[in-house]
Amino acid sequence: MRFDIISLFPSYFKSPFNESLIKKALEKALIEIGLVDIRDFADNKWRKVDDRPYGGGPGMVICPEPVEKAVLSVKNEGSRVIYLSPQGSPLTAEKARSLAKEEHLVLLCGHYEGIDERALEAVVDEELSIGDYVLTSGCPAAVVVVDAVSRFVPGVIGHEEATSQDSFESGHFDCPHYTRPEEYNGKKVPEVLLSGDHKKIGEWRQIKGLEKTRRVRPDLKV
Ligand SMILES: C[S@@+](CC[C@H](N)C(=O)[O-])C[C@H]1O[C@@H](n2cnc3c(N)ncnc32)[C@H](O)[C@@H]1O
Repeated sequence: MRFDIISLFPSYFKSPFNESLIKKALEKALIEIGLVDIRDFADNKWRKVDDRPYGGGPGMVICPEPVEKAVLSVKNEGSRVIYLSPQGSPLTAEKARSLAKEEHLVLLCGHYEGIDERALEAVVDEELSIGDYVLTSGCPAAVVVVDAVSRFVPGVIGHEEATSQDSFESGHFDCPHYTRPEEYNGKKVPEVLLSGDHKKIGEWRQIKGLEKTRRVRPDLKV
């Protein structure tokens, strides 16, 4: 699948996509990522693409024309255009899984006070939020979306069953995990994990995941 990220700071993405599983997914061509600079579509030699807001107030707003042109430069019939915004519907595991079925996601990052509403109306299919807080720009949100969606692209995670045991896949959290040494700081690995009884281990893991979910996230109602 392909992602195109449209922003004012394409170099922001160099490091996060050059590490670990996303780097491997790019090398194996399981995913492709294109970076588009909105300033390349400015109509002036200063590459200025923002202006003061009508109605007054603090901050700057990104002008509609360069944004629309930037999106149209990569959009095709199979594209889904997403504006990263605190006003969007929440990114959940279920949403990430469904977005992984798309062939092309165009991720539009806002900056400053945001993007002129008319550009959003012209080219955006949906708005997506990564949480109820405000970031300085859409760039970190785009990194989160690429990461969360890519995990569901076949082949990106080595063991396919790894995602099925992850938090939220069955509506609750994953269980606690342990590795060597068997005793650390006076604390032993739970006995059941050393028993070799996989039925009991499965039951214990589910109970632990449910217990923590009920304690930390009662809103999930498990
Ligand atoms: C400073 S924010 C603008 C916030 C906007 N004035 C508001 O209050 O809704 C700049 C940009 O960061 C991005 N952004 C901020 N918070 C976000 C969130 N929770 N999820 C996704 N994108 C976010 C958006 O692209 C936004 O245009």
